Amino acid sequence: MIQFDAIHKRFPNGTTAVHDLSLEIPEGGVTVLVGSSGCGKTTTLRMVNRMVEPTSGTIRVGGKDVTRQDAAELRRSIGYVIQQAGLFPHRTVLDNIATVPLLLGHGRRRARARAAELLETVGLTAESGRRYPHQLSGGQQQRVGVARALAADPPVLLMDEPFGAVDPVVRTQLQDELLRLQKELNKTIVFVTHDVDEAVRLGDRIAIFRTGGHLVQCAAPAELLARPADDFVADFLGAERGLKLLSLKTLADVPQGPAPEGGAWTLVLDEARKPLHWAPKDTKDAEIPLRPLADGDSLLAALDESIASPTGLIARVDADGVLTGVSSRDDIHEHAGRAHTAARTRTGTEPETETAA
Ligand SMILES: Nc1ncnc2c1ncn2[C@@H]1O[C@H](COP(=O)(O)OP(=O)(O)OP(=O)(O)O)[C@@H](O)[C@H]1O
Ligand SMILES: [Mg+2]
Repeated sequence: MIQFDAIHKRFPNGTTAVHDLSLEIPEGGVTVLVGSSGCGKTTTLRMVNRMVEPTSGTIRVGGKDVTRQDAAELRRSIGYVIQQAGLFPHRTVLDNIATVPLLLGHGRRRARARAAELLETVGLTAESGRRYPHQLSGGQQQRVGVARALAADPPVLLMDEPFGAVDPVVRTQLQDELLRLQKELNKTIVFVTHDVDEAVRLGDRIAIFRTGGHLVQCAAPAELLARPADDFVADFLGAERGLKLLSLKTLADVPQGPAPEGGAWTLVLDEARKPLHWAPKDTKDAEIPLRPLADGDSLLAALDESIASPTGLIARVDADGVLTGVSSRDDIHEHAGRAHTAARTRTGTEPETETAA
């Protein structure tokens, strides 16, 4: 969908921002570009919509060389979201979102109707459409930024650290929203971040860059975490590489058995058989809190819960929150050990890694 072919970018002052980049970004998925500050992520992104022109090499979007297209037209067909949302301060939120549809020649009424629809899509109230950007929180402004980028329904969305300036809680919410939206819209998204956890959470593929604009490795998150191409990648992924890998694996395959009876701990349920807490045998009033987990929860969450709980057990529930059984710390640990092997030998085919020199 987006192909970089031997791309170089050298700015007039002599800085090489991107060095011999060849990368294919498949259609319909999130590709995350990560790397330390100044390694050329923004430059790479901005060459796609021609806000920066490469010094040499070719970029194709949907098979078409971007330099053969009118730059303004190209930009309208590619959504672009930046940190701090980049909204027009003197236009209402609704008019900010309607900007591109208006530019595309949709009538005012239709553009606004579309904007109102998008406001809802990104989880904002109709009332917030009448406000000005400064009257919204940082997280809300980012949502408007996303809505504006989606307004022309572009197949490609470029996002440059869109959630970099909001607090961790809002950031997680915005990430969830993006994953939900992506399920619905299936765009081709190129997402830039500094944050490895964000990359692992959002990316179908992660491309790691090193200073000087070198692409070091591009692979699926599990692949990258299990087989970093070199020490640079391993260092960049951080000390908790193994735990991050567990965050990608679910609990589904871990065996479960009936809740223990008559032992040191009792699992207390409500009338609907939903787990409430653990109660120790001899002290009736003590309640040890628990966090029930479903099949879709991660092995990391399961390991965490099994270590946090003095029982060493986790309570497993179905989609309705009803108890299905318990799993032990040992069983979870056993499966955690296998997560690594699974990532290495996926279906016995060669790992899907591109390594650049
Ligand atoms: N217009 C410009 N003129 C000269 N040098 C530039 C220009 N824009 C960027 N650079 C340089 O190119 C390199 C790559 O910059 P770029 O903005 O792509 O990095 P980045 O990976 O996005 O960094 P950050 O994580 O800090 O946003 C840096 O050394 C930067 O100083
Ligand atoms: Mg940048």
